Amino acid sequence: MNELENIKELFEERITSVNDLNELNAIRVDFLGKNGHLTTCMKLIKDLSNEEKKSFGENVNKLKTLVLERIEEKKEYLEEKEIRAEIDKMPNVDLTTPSGDKRGSLHPVTIVQQKLIDIFRSMGFTVEDGNEVETEYNNFEAVNIPKHHPARDMQDTFYLSNGQVLKTHTSASQNRIMKKYGAPLKAIFPGRCFRNEELDASHENTFFQMEGMMIDKDVSISNLIYFMKTMLSEVFGKEVNVRLRPGFFPFVEPGFELDSSCPYCGGKGCRVCKNSGWIELCPCGMIHPNVLEMGGIDPNEYQGFAFGLGLSRLVMMTYGFDDIRHLNGKDLNVLSQTKVK
Ligand code: PHE
Repeated sequence: MNELENIKELFEERITSVNDLNELNAIRVDFLGKNGHLTTCMKLIKDLSNEEKKSFGENVNKLKTLVLERIEEKKEYLEEKEIRAEIDKMPNVDLTTPSGDKRGSLHPVTIVQQKLIDIFRSMGFTVEDGNEVETEYNNFEAVNIPKHHPARDMQDTFYLSNGQVLKTHTSASQNRIMKKYGAPLKAIFPGRCFRNEELDASHENTFFQMEGMMIDKDVSISNLIYFMKTMLSEVFGKEVNVRLRPGFFPFVEPGFELDSSCPYCGGKGCRVCKNSGWIELCPCGMIHPNVLEMGGIDPNEYQGFAFGLGLSRLVMMTYGFDDIRHLNGKDLNVLSQTKVK
């Protein structure tokens, strides 16, 4: 009995003065470990009479519970103390200060992208993710731009030392998506693209596009026009007209530049449409048979359209940004315009 009192006293002494977690662990080992005081006590039980066994056993267990509880308590206390010490070392930031009207907002590109995703989802399109680092094959060959073809010059490409490229357009995902789903398919795939541009107000090395594809039997240019007109009318919140002009892209035949009637002046002419009444928004066309074939889809059975919406451009128009570089910048006055519109 006396032995237990001694152990308790010793424990109290040590647990009161313990100052860090290592020391606490040492106490745990000294009292509860294989050769710890309490473990050794337990071993004495077998030499006691039956009566003594009962009360001694009970007392050892009581002490053991107490020791465990106190160690646990102390552990919580010391852990918190360590965290506090870490925080004190950090620069003085008052996390409880009210944010005033400087609250964060979604990035304009995210807002417009989410809106487009909602629109296309409602029309039965799936939303796909694409890689930012791509194989040359997916970025070029698979969309009918063979090695050394002059069309490669249309896109000033960042080549990586391992032979891969930073995706120059979202079309780089076409092949993978065709192989994933086969025909028929309806998919959109927004993504960040990279080109080695001379930078100015309308050229950035990093920008966003949103590509779409619809492949089925009997898909025609009328389907393309219908989906583009519906999508743009939704985006602008009013009925717009679209028109097609011829455009060259090796992965579509025929290929077009799609213009929308200017949603701001209704086609009369204004600053946004440079008085033409039309805004150029979306290259598109009927998917080239070679591209379908490379995607494992039989061009004699299926046709499809593809479009590559200039998402960054659309965002600039929507929010009236006059410089594309704002989109990758950090000027909150510019970015927070999202709260106004
Ligand atoms: N990938 C083309 C570009 O970035 C755009 C495009 C996409 C054209 C789909 C036609 C069809 O220039």
